[in-house]
Amino acid sequence: MQGLTVLGATGSIGQSTLDVVRRHPDRYRVVALTAHRQVERLVADCLEFKPLLAVVGDESTAAEVRQRLQAVGSAVEVLWGEAALVSAATLPEADMVMAAIVGAAGLAPTLAAAQVGKRILLANKEVLVMAGELFMQAVQQSGAPLLPVDSEHNAIFQALPEDFSRGLRACGVEKILLTASGGPFRETPLDGLRHVTPEQACAHPNWVMGRKISVDSATMMNKGLEVIEARWLFDAAPEMIQVVVHPQSVIHSAVQYVDGSVIAQLGNPDMRTPIAYAMAWPERIAAGVGPLDLFKVGRLDFFAPDFERFRCLRLAYDVLRTGATAPAILNAANEVAVAAFLDGELPFLGIAELNETVLGRLPARHEGSLGDVLAADGEARSLARQLIQEREFA
Ligand SMILES: NC(=O)c1ccc[n+]([C@@H]2O[C@H](COP(=O)([O-])OP(=O)(O)OC[C@H]3O[C@@H](n4cnc5c(N)ncnc54)[C@H](OP(=O)(O)O)[C@@H]3O)[C@@H](O)[C@H]2O)c1
Repeated sequence: MQGLTVLGATGSIGQSTLDVVRRHPDRYRVVALTAHRQVERLVADCLEFKPLLAVVGDESTAAEVRQRLQAVGSAVEVLWGEAALVSAATLPEADMVMAAIVGAAGLAPTLAAAQVGKRILLANKEVLVMAGELFMQAVQQSGAPLLPVDSEHNAIFQALPEDFSRGLRACGVEKILLTASGGPFRETPLDGLRHVTPEQACAHPNWVMGRKISVDSATMMNKGLEVIEARWLFDAAPEMIQVVVHPQSVIHSAVQYVDGSVIAQLGNPDMRTPIAYAMAWPERIAAGVGPLDLFKVGRLDFFAPDFERFRCLRLAYDVLRTGATAPAILNAANEVAVAAFLDGELPFLGIAELNETVLGRLPARHEGSLGDVLAADGEARSLARQLIQEREFA
């Protein structure tokens, strides 16, 4: 029986994780669940999974959750705030931590879990984008097993030899082929992108996901963040990571070897597959996902990405080459931009424009400590908000 903390339990990945747990009550016990503000979902999950601890974002939400749980005789402890997230991530009863908070808010608890050697199931890619070097150092020092949950990185992990940490080149790897659906606007004329609404941007053709990652998929910022994530997870040079647009989302990514072989992982687009793989590795367990019917799929298409149309993807390669705190700056600007777009304060095309402007105005500094990363993050957020308020992108 393994203890599991789910950070971001009320989100899309969090709920898929709990669905896998539900199928294997003999293997996994939920020890902590965290959410930000969603009370109903969290209370229902606490009653079903009976964790030791539940964490939310603020005091009044904590009081509401506590009261609702006590009213039905539940003994779950309820805490709030960042220190409580760290407690949930480092509970002695937790053998593994699903990192599924969205955005920068997940950095501190995920890093803390890595520092104490928990098995990390990493969905929260922003952790590696912001602080890749620090996070990978923590993983190496503590020996924390790190399992990628992002479907592409999970596929690459499955296609690599088990000892890939001795070096991709040494393992005969020539390229990582990171597939991308291209999002809902792959074929929309550029002019048509001017008036895109949040609802249109969030309507992903293949995947059901949270709103932030859905918008990131529409701008292809998500693929850019994944390029940076792949760089750190697999110690891959940027030129070894090739984005391949594959609209059907059946091949989740592949690895090309020097002998001409390409090893790919295929499956229906359902996050429970990579989640179950990460939870059970090196074993495999049922995930509730139906078998892939290749006759129904019929055909698989591939295209080169359009870096002019998807400027965010180009920016990701740029910051990867700049290094230091440049990826953290891009990530922070993008979080502010996406939130502003979802709130109707920024047009869709303004997201890439804002990201590029913030990157152009802030210098990248050495990523020496978590403090350096958070300072760069804070500075980029302030500038991005200021630029939106000044309506430079309206
Ligand atoms: N969804 C996918 O298919 C998918 C695939 C690959 C990778 N990922 C990555 O996985 C992560 C989660 O994505 P998602 O789609 O599951 O997101 P989501 O549905 O928006 O869920 C986000 C979770 O984080 C919590 N949260 C939000 N802001 C927070 C804050 N400031 N502090 C603490 N907790 C906070 C939310 O709580 P409330 O519900 O209370 O707001 C929720 O539990 C992202 O990094 C994403 O890029 C997702």
